[in-house]
Amino acid sequence: DPALLQGRSIALIGLMGVGKTTVGRRLARRLGLPFRDADAEIEAAARLSIADIFAELGEAEFRAGEHRVIRRLLEGPSQVLATGGGAVLNAETRKALKARAVTIWLRAEPEVLAERATRRDTRPLLKDADPLAVLTRLQQAREPFYREAADLIVETGAGPHSRAVDAVLAAL
Ligand code: S3P
Repeated sequence: DPALLQGRSIALIGLMGVGKTTVGRRLARRLGLPFRDADAEIEAAARLSIADIFAELGEAEFRAGEHRVIRRLLEGPSQVLATGGGAVLNAETRKALKARAVTIWLRAEPEVLAERATRRDTRPLLKDADPLAVLTRLQQAREPFYREAADLIVETGAGPHSRAVDAVLAAL
């Protein structure tokens, strides 16, 4: 029942490939809430793809835009928000999530993520790199930030996304 949100949103955090967008969209439908995807909103605002933002403006500029977009979205009415995997690196973003969202960390082992994350080649951090090595390193580096931002942790494993959706609904 979205009443338990008291005006807050549901935000999904976690690494690339964990299913934030797919799970988020289905969750939104089940809860009767709008769905927003931070990456898509950044692309629309910049009129550039994520890959082009990284290539032309650099990662720092992307992170600054990412923060502005997430803060703006969280100021709006309750929604299910899928964030980019690195959104929690920004302390102000973590603060905004704490204040305005029930934040759910979708977790899976790097092996599972690597298999999923490379199905699309839209991710600059995985370009020309060994995805398993990158995701293992990112998991280690970001774990404390995900933990700090999360109200709930949902283990997703290698199963279908529908299982993660049910797990989130059960945890809410
Ligand atoms: C990133 C994750 C991506 C996207 C960008 C950077 C990251 O989002 O924001 O490529 O630093 O983990 P997804 O987690 O939706 O792939």
